[in-house]
Amino acid sequence: MKIGVFDSGVGGLSVVKAIQKELPDLEIVYKDDAEHVPYGTRSVEEIHGFVKPIFQSFLDEGCRVIVIACNTVTTNLASQLRAEFSVPIVGMEPMVKPAAAASKTGVIAVCATPRTLASDRYKWLKDEYAKSVKVLEPDCSDWAYMVETNSVDREKIAKIVNEARNAGADQIVLGCTHYHWIEQLIKDLAKDRAQVIQPEGPVIEQLKRILASP
Ligand code: DGL
Repeated sequence: MKIGVFDSGVGGLSVVKAIQKELPDLEIVYKDDAEHVPYGTRSVEEIHGFVKPIFQSFLDEGCRVIVIACNTVTTNLASQLRAEFSVPIVGMEPMVKPAAAASKTGVIAVCATPRTLASDRYKWLKDEYAKSVKVLEPDCSDWAYMVETNSVDREKIAKIVNEARNAGADQIVLGCTHYHWIEQLIKDLAKDRAQVIQPEGPVIEQLKRILASP
């Protein structure tokens, strides 16, 4: 079985790595958009224009499922893309619900791109699941660029993680797949005061369910 995995850049490769570990027999076609990454500060219309032909090329190449390994595209465009393309589309979005449910301090931090934080879907997730907690949204607007260009400024990341910890956050949500590459750094900074979560596990479970269905 052949599936397509998409992200604007290198973020989705961390998801490919995780999928390959769990489903080694799957043939994965990975596509990014090196010309336009990062997406996180672009408009929804612009991003839609970029991804539509790429998604069509997945179908043309025989992919039976598409994984959007990008929170920015999922939170802004998943519904539209599902209506436009006939294959099952699995998305990745910030784990607001589990973070809010697990928080003991009543404070969670969501690290995501500006476009994800501005999306209706993200606002809905907060309204639906995080009404009873305080949601911090630290400025991570240059993190995807730093990861993409291999120029991660550890001091900058440390400052943001420490601020979130000091503000009481005991759950740090990685709401952008680029940040999966610096997950260990963030975990080390969060130490035992905050749990760091991202959705690779549930996404792979969802993918398995789709692959198992007739
Ligand atoms: N990796 C993507 C995400 O999960 C997008 C990062 C970007 O292109 O700004 O949101």
